[in-house]
Amino acid sequence: MKIQNLAYVGIETENLKAWRTFGTKVLGLMLSESNEDNLLKFRMDDRPYRIAVHKGNKDCLQYAGFELHDKEALEEAKNELKKKKIKFTLGNKKQAKLREVEELIILSDPIGTQIELFYGRSLDYQRFISPAGVSSFVTGEMGIGHIVLPATDLKANHLFYTKVLGFGETDFMQFDMGEGDQQFSAGLHFLHCNNPRHHTVGLFEAPHPNGLVHLMIEVPDIDEVGYALDRVNEYKIPLQSSLGRHTNDRMISFYMISPSGFAIEYGCGGWQVDWEEFTTTVSHLPSIWGHKFQAPD
Ligand SMILES: [Fe+2]
Repeated sequence: MKIQNLAYVGIETENLKAWRTFGTKVLGLMLSESNEDNLLKFRMDDRPYRIAVHKGNKDCLQYAGFELHDKEALEEAKNELKKKKIKFTLGNKKQAKLREVEELIILSDPIGTQIELFYGRSLDYQRFISPAGVSSFVTGEMGIGHIVLPATDLKANHLFYTKVLGFGETDFMQFDMGEGDQQFSAGLHFLHCNNPRHHTVGLFEAPHPNGLVHLMIEVPDIDEVGYALDRVNEYKIPLQSSLGRHTNDRMISFYMISPSGFAIEYGCGGWQVDWEEFTTTVSHLPSIWGHKFQAPD
């Protein structure tokens, strides 16, 4: 199966009000006109939404939607899953309408993340205008950005994403974090799909209470990252990490804590890889400079 990109994510939150401010004023996302009660649909481009935030009883990642090329690709994916005896359900009309896609199927990864595979996303022809004045986001055929999932059973998750969903190996990192008794080491797989983004999914060998370690969104240049940092300070959003440059995808970014507890990485300059010319790497250091992680208050 050939996944094109991460096209949308769904988040459940107890605090929709905080997300409204955070999404529009801090991240600079545009609210879709098709919002319903208890649901915020945030736009980043010409797609009807990229991040849907649903009112609920907890704060977590609810689903991740991956795009397939067309109906034929979705049919092939269904056949492959059947052959591999991976359970999935067919999304009904109501679900497809809500996601603004032609057809979707729903399955679960070994962490329990709801994975949706679909084709035929609608377009929103109303011009994208960021309420915070962000010029644009780096999306298009590369999708939203990337997600890093808490994959405590790293091996099982790695097998699922590579052998079932067809992700390709980009980089592996053994991540040493914390100090003293808090010190721990965890593996981190960086995986790509059928677009130049260095990684679309990361699998991090540690639990996370909100089902998502971080979601990365990308802006076109360093000034947009700087303006975002100013907004983070203005709205007193807790930082998880200072500005820094990653070794493997070369992204200059910082990390902030979203109202749902997981982090948002906000960056620019991510490496767009020519996969024909690429060989899988192992990194021993997450960042060239910066990215000083801060303990929560
Ligand atoms: Fe990241």
